[in-house]
Amino acid sequence: MSFLLEAKGISVSYGSIRALRDVTMSVEAGEIACLIGANGAGKSTLLKAITGLVPITSGSISFAERTIAVAERGASEGMRGLLGRRASWSTDRIVALGVALVPEGRRVFAEMTVQENLDMGAFLVRDEEKVRAKAEEMFALFPILRERRRQKAGSLSGGEQQMLAIARALMSSPRLLLLDEPGLGLAPLIIRDIFEIIVRINREEGVTVFLVEQNARMALAVSQKGYVLETGVVVLDDRAASLLANERVKAAYLGE
Ligand SMILES: Nc1ncnc2c1ncn2[C@@H]1O[C@H](COP(=O)(O)OP(=O)(O)OP(=O)(O)O)[C@@H](O)[C@H]1O
Ligand SMILES: [Mg+2]
Repeated sequence: MSFLLEAKGISVSYGSIRALRDVTMSVEAGEIACLIGANGAGKSTLLKAITGLVPITSGSISFAERTIAVAERGASEGMRGLLGRRASWSTDRIVALGVALVPEGRRVFAEMTVQENLDMGAFLVRDEEKVRAKAEEMFALFPILRERRRQKAGSLSGGEQQMLAIARALMSSPRLLLLDEPGLGLAPLIIRDIFEIIVRINREEGVTVFLVEQNARMALAVSQKGYVLETGVVVLDDRAASLLANERVKAAYLGE
C-alpha cells in the first residue's frame, strides 16, 4: 500500500521534553484522516514535524513517495544522499511539493486585506491568470470572503478569519491540507460550517486532508480514519466509525 503521507516511528523532543514518541501514522490519497488528543498531547508538534518546522529524532516521514524527513542519528549515508546534504527538507520545499498547513490560531496577516492574504498564499505561483482563477475558486467556496475582499483581515470575525486561513492555504493548490484545530474558539454553528467546507474541499477539489482537533466528535464525523494521541504516543488507530463507538474514546473525548 502506498500512502500520500506516512510517518514511521517518529519522535520529537524540545530539550528534555519528549513531545512525540515513536509515532506511526499515514494518510491515503483522497481521504480525510484526523488526530484527536487533549491539550499538550503533541498534536501541533506532529504537524510541525511533517512541515519541517521541527526536527525529528527518530524515524522518517515521506510524502508522495519521497522521504522528506529522516532522523539525523541513524540516517544512512544512502538516505542522506537522497535528501541532499541535509537530513530533512526545508519547509519551503515541502510546501512546493504540495503540502499546506493552516496553523493553530488562524494566523492571517491582520494589516493586509482579504485579497492580499489570498495573494500571499499563492506566492509560489508565477502565472497571474492562475492566481486570479484560484482566488475566484476560493470566493465560490467562501462567498463571505468575496464580500470582504477589500477589508483588512484583522477586522474579520473569528470564523471568517479561519475561512481566510484555509482559503490562503488552498491558493497553492496543495495535494495535502493540514489543519490545526480549525474549530478552536468558534461557536458550534460556525464550526459546523467550517467542517462542511472541509468536506467540500476534499470531495470537490480532491484535496487530501489531515486534521488535528480537540473536538473529537466533529473530527471523527467527517473523517474516514483517526488516531488518538496521548502525551506524545498514539494509543488508538482505527476507522473513524469504530473510534466513535469505542468506549475509551467515548469516555475520554466524547463526554459520554
Ligand atoms: N517550542 C517548545 N519548547 C518547549 N516545549 C514545547 C514547545 N512546543 C511545544 N512544547 C511542549 O510539547 C508538548 C506538546 O505540545 P503541542 O503544542 O504539540 O501540543 P498540542 O497537542 O498541540 O496542544 P494544544 O491542544 O494545547 O494545542 C507540550 O508539553 C508542550 O508544552
Ligand atoms: Mg496545538
